[in-house]
Amino acid sequence: MSYPIIFDTDPGVDDAQAIAIALRHPEIELLGLTTTYGNVDINVATRNALLLSELAGRRIPVAQGAAGPLVKPRHPAPAHIHGANGLGNIDLPEVHGRAEPIGAAQFIVETVRARPGEVTLVAVGPLGNLAAALQLDPGIVEAVKRVVIMGGSIKEGGNVSPVAEANIFNDPHAASRVLTAGWPLTLVGLDATHRCVLSPADMDAIAAGQGELGAVLKGSYAFYREFYQQALSIDGCCPHDSCALAWLLRPELFTTARGHLSVVTEGDAAGQTLFAPEGRAFIDERWSRTPLVEACLGADGPAVVQWIVDTLK
Ligand code: BDR
Ligand code: CA
Repeated sequence: MSYPIIFDTDPGVDDAQAIAIALRHPEIELLGLTTTYGNVDINVATRNALLLSELAGRRIPVAQGAAGPLVKPRHPAPAHIHGANGLGNIDLPEVHGRAEPIGAAQFIVETVRARPGEVTLVAVGPLGNLAAALQLDPGIVEAVKRVVIMGGSIKEGGNVSPVAEANIFNDPHAASRVLTAGWPLTLVGLDATHRCVLSPADMDAIAAGQGELGAVLKGSYAFYREFYQQALSIDGCCPHDSCALAWLLRPELFTTARGHLSVVTEGDAAGQTLFAPEGRAFIDERWSRTPLVEACLGADGPAVVQWIVDTLK
């Protein structure tokens, strides 16, 4: 089976690992990388996307997208987590390629329209590019095969606020449009990704298996791992963005439920994802009016990690 995907990303250490999977997995056909601000500024995101595919010896179209959120003011990039260059502040080789002459939203629309019913959008950053693509061509809702989002949290609580996950928090207005657009959608949030911890030995195995790309992953892991040690007291890191690809190729490793999602866009809970399970009657219907989607409620963490390591070692 082959999975044609567009990978929408803000690389970012865990994004970089997921990009390596998208570039290497024999069943993934990577049609393009679309970039967004988030872990880094937009120009850095685009540079990193170009670099990572060049280091893997591939020429993948890279289309640059959102430089900031739709409505709220932008928060500074989290340099303490991913490094100022998004890849753990290591020295990086020069990039030779250039971004596409069209922007991310246009690239998404054209690519989806060229292969109706075939393309899966995998988005692992703030969701401005998908929101812009929807605005450009609302008909892509019927033309995509599926949308897989790394973002949100159902019962796990947040990672940037008590209730919000970073990708949704960074642009809750975009997330609200994307999560309620009515396309076939799966949310792979913290309820699943926090079950998955990549150990230092796993990181070494991946780095050793990926040539020049592996050297960059190795340097960036060192920085990312330090953050996890300080913030969560774990020796390792959560491979958030790789989990979206793991769900696409190995959905049996995840527990999911169908329900209605909505996003809190303002106030102290901004960025929170609210999930009303299908068929569950609450005191009124306001949480159950959005289209049905699928949300991950858990994952077999060790098996997901093994899949990541087996793909990249
Ligand atoms: C998400 O936020 C980003 O920092 C990571 O790359 C991942 O996409 C995890 O909350
Ligand atoms: Ca990301």
